[in-house]
Amino acid sequence: MNFDTLLALREDTRTRRITDLFDTDPDRAKGFSAGFDGLFFDYSKTAIDAGIRAELIALAEQAGLAERRAAMFRGDRINRTEGRAVLHAALRAGKDAVIAVDGQDVMPEVRATRARMEIFAEAVRSGAFAGPGGQITDVVNIGIGGSDLGPVMGVAALAPYCDGPRVHFVSNVDGAQIHDVLAPLNPKTTLVIVASKTFTTTETMTNAQTAKRWLAAGVAEPAAQFVALSTAEDKTAEFGIPPDRVFGFEDWVGGRYSMWGPIGLSLMIAIGADDFAAFLEGGASMDAHFRAAPLMDNLPVLLALVGIWHHQICGYPTRAVLPYEQRLSRLPAYLQQLEMESNGKSVAMDGTPLGYVSGPVVWGEPGTNGQHAFYQLIHQGTAVVPCEFMVGARGHEPDLAHQHRLLVANCLAQSEALMCGRSFDVALTEAHAKGLSGKAAEQLARHRTFPGNRPSTTLVYDLLTPRRLGQIVALYEHRVFVEGVILGINSFDQWGVELGKELATALQPLLEGADGGDTKDGSTRMLVEYLRHMM
Ligand code: F6P
Repeated sequence: MNFDTLLALREDTRTRRITDLFDTDPDRAKGFSAGFDGLFFDYSKTAIDAGIRAELIALAEQAGLAERRAAMFRGDRINRTEGRAVLHAALRAGKDAVIAVDGQDVMPEVRATRARMEIFAEAVRSGAFAGPGGQITDVVNIGIGGSDLGPVMGVAALAPYCDGPRVHFVSNVDGAQIHDVLAPLNPKTTLVIVASKTFTTTETMTNAQTAKRWLAAGVAEPAAQFVALSTAEDKTAEFGIPPDRVFGFEDWVGGRYSMWGPIGLSLMIAIGADDFAAFLEGGASMDAHFRAAPLMDNLPVLLALVGIWHHQICGYPTRAVLPYEQRLSRLPAYLQQLEMESNGKSVAMDGTPLGYVSGPVVWGEPGTNGQHAFYQLIHQGTAVVPCEFMVGARGHEPDLAHQHRLLVANCLAQSEALMCGRSFDVALTEAHAKGLSGKAAEQLARHRTFPGNRPSTTLVYDLLTPRRLGQIVALYEHRVFVEGVILGINSFDQWGVELGKELATALQPLLEGADGGDTKDGSTRMLVEYLRHMM
């Protein structure tokens, strides 16, 4: 991809302040924002002007976005390194959808699995499916990465809609986590979901065996309290889970895109089938918008273009996601996998090295907590961190509406402060007002000056409902897709996680005392020895 024109435009922006853009264009806020069905995206607090936006849109067009988007929704095998289609959108497609992979409509199977999930989830919720101790009180989802982060994020986000059994998550191979989760639970009323696309992931399979032993110590038939979510039905059978409690899916659902289907079962049990259907419908509505809206009004495209502008063109190395919504506390972690596993690549589709940087580091925390932790650096540090704020107009607690207004005020204040800053002169006047003069006033004013001109975007919605969450998740999925298309990479494989897995398998025996450490580098050999003697 040729970024030269945009890099030249970037040079022009170096001496300009974002606030000047508002002075020269009184309608800037309106012109550099877009809405869709209850979502509103403001990107006017960036240095992007009409010329830059036109170039960014041209970039997406030259990258073949329209054709690549059509190919994805059509079921083409666009994940070329794994020879797979990319059809997570099929999991949320409407009742009349027909989507074919190799000429075969996949929708009947998708609908049949969803119907089985709904029956099972409602049976767990109603008590029709029970444990030996009666109604299921607790559900433990064992999975990692894409088999964990989506449901974890969703259950926290939709807490006001969670009226089923308590849902817990175990992901880490660190035995501390499963110990702490299982310790207070009653095996007689606990359902264990083993969520793993491949059913081979070491962390998940190790935790699943631990859960099996825990159940076996408390109930006569531990297998009766297991459910599997996987593409590998041979392996789920080997584990001892009967087919009627296996919810399968196809290899065209990537792990980090999988919360819409069986991997979302824990969320469905928590919120119920109707609310889960609303979540799917929200995702489907974003799919329709992404496919039909002109690029200039297309929310996933606009988010992607802002991302490309800040990372590839301006060279800002990270992107902060800052939801002013405590229940979205796990969204940054979810987006870390979605964005960094998808677009953290260094070769193009054809295997040739990229001539530019790939995806940014994504990080964040909910506001207002982040304000009292890392915002100092965002406001006054030397590195520019583009911030993506997110806030709902309302909360679910009408009696605490005054707190919600305070939350919203904080969100807006941060983006205002980032853009407008506080000049040295204003800081000096303030120092004088405090009774300081001369050098002392100047010195304090330097510390109290905010450079401003720091870019941010704000995504606004009304209320975080299941449907709204579906829209937001699909919005980010498509944003990652568009960025990947512009970068010319495969956003749907993740070979970069393999080497560490292989080496961990080889290192475990060394920690248990086996020979062979001499093949390791000096540092690793030393650490193995050091740890082994303390184990
Ligand atoms: O760490 C890589 C990865 O393959 C992720 O892409 C995936 O979400 C996670 O591991 C879990 O994989 P599985 O669902 O097969 O257990």
